[in-house]
Amino acid sequence: MPRSPEESAPDRGDGVEDLIGIGFGPANLALAIAIDEHNRRAPAEALRVGFVERQERFGWHRGMLLEGATMQVSFLKDLVTMRDPRSRFTFLTYLQERGRLADFINLRTFYPTRVEFHDYFEWCAAEFAGRVGYGRRAVEIRPVETGGRIGAVDVVTEAAADGAGRQVRRARNIVVGTGLRPRLPEGVTAGERVWHTRDLLHREPQLTERRHRRFTVVGAGQSAAEAVEHLYRTYPDAEICAVFSRYGYSPADDSPFANRIFDPSAVDDFYAAPQSVKKSLLDYHANTNYAVVDGDLITSLYRTLYQDRVSGRERLRILNTTRLTGVEHTPDGARALVRNLATGEEYALESDAVVLATGYTHVDPRELLGPLAPACLTDGDGRLRVDRDHRILTSDHVDAGIYLQGGTEHTHGITSSLLSTLAVRSGEICDSLLLRRTGRQLHADLAGDQDERIGAAAR
Ligand code: FDA
Repeated sequence: MPRSPEESAPDRGDGVEDLIGIGFGPANLALAIAIDEHNRRAPAEALRVGFVERQERFGWHRGMLLEGATMQVSFLKDLVTMRDPRSRFTFLTYLQERGRLADFINLRTFYPTRVEFHDYFEWCAAEFAGRVGYGRRAVEIRPVETGGRIGAVDVVTEAAADGAGRQVRRARNIVVGTGLRPRLPEGVTAGERVWHTRDLLHREPQLTERRHRRFTVVGAGQSAAEAVEHLYRTYPDAEICAVFSRYGYSPADDSPFANRIFDPSAVDDFYAAPQSVKKSLLDYHANTNYAVVDGDLITSLYRTLYQDRVSGRERLRILNTTRLTGVEHTPDGARALVRNLATGEEYALESDAVVLATGYTHVDPRELLGPLAPACLTDGDGRLRVDRDHRILTSDHVDAGIYLQGGTEHTHGITSSLLSTLAVRSGEICDSLLLRRTGRQLHADLAGDQDERIGAAAR
């Protein structure tokens, strides 16, 4: 692919970038594409952008790239199609370049495997390798003040591996796309044999025993069900205990009317709605995304359970209505302490490993924003106020833009941390950057005219 016009775009003489993206997951990758496409269309108006990513190379939930696991979103909701189906970064173009277009069509599915979609993401990310500081963690954002106004910020990064080599890059805008943080049950610490699902495939190779007795998986969502299936298949000697407080796995509502909650237009509807309606919508449609499992996977697990019964070797144990009360690290594994919520019975599950499929939690960007945090406006519940263009609303003296990709469920709805609207959201952020730059230029030009007039009058 040809060189991006952005790479040769002159800076405005001040060494300040238009945008630095923090994190280079699918969200900021989609933004990199949207900006690249703008830069090609309008080279004279090119935006100078860079990204920092703490991983050593692009990776999308690598620890959960389980064999056969499929996407929960249509391939048509790739990084570009919903904004511009003619983009050269569509999943279909990727398939064509990989020589699999006809083969994929014959599969007759909208849901590729995660392994394949990861490869698609990597194919896109390769295009921007020169724009991404891999292996660098953003640790601090410092406001840059001139004449009482904050027109830019310094993004301080260090080597993710050892915290060495601090570097500072200045930008007029930042976009925080750092994703979610794994959530562990209270009082539980991860360790050699206690893993969050995020680390499943990274940790597994550390198991050195030939035979395995038992794995305990805690949780009832998609990742939990996938982990159960994966462990059952991978360790034929082991018993797999699925521990959750529900009575059974519940199916994800992916029916067409409910699915419209993931449409770009739903973001407009949600944004404009009063707080009470926002809350109701999130409650009504939580079962499209949270603590639910793909229907086919539920059926497959149930078949496995039944087949075990037929064979008389019950390797899959569903410990429903059961809560994890603690985890102890043992010399050769981990002990899951559980309580049956119906009977009150408490017991321990000696395990080769305890896998915590206990979800993720939102990270407040103010942790990173440091001295800029008090300039961010908040609502009555202390949550960030975010403009429709995904920019945090700030006090008047802040001209630098702080955009969010994720962490905006309370303002923009359920797609905030998902893939569904990345293509459109990236276009919106790109448009906002351009609009605000034009506004600043006009402002500066007007101020310049005024200076000239004042100068002429003084002469
Ligand atoms: P993501 O977490 O992917 O990326 C954030 C990046 O920021 C990471 O690469 C991280 O290393 C980096 N980072 C964090 N802090 C940093 C710092 N201080 N400095 C530098 N870099 C930093 N959604 C969906 O719509 N359909 C689906 O099929 C799935 N499937 C799915 C499977 C699994 C196993 C999980 C865990 C999640 C999903 N999701 C999903 C939801 C998921 O959140 C979504 O797919 C994307 O990961 C969101 O992309 P982001 O770029 O926002 O975050």
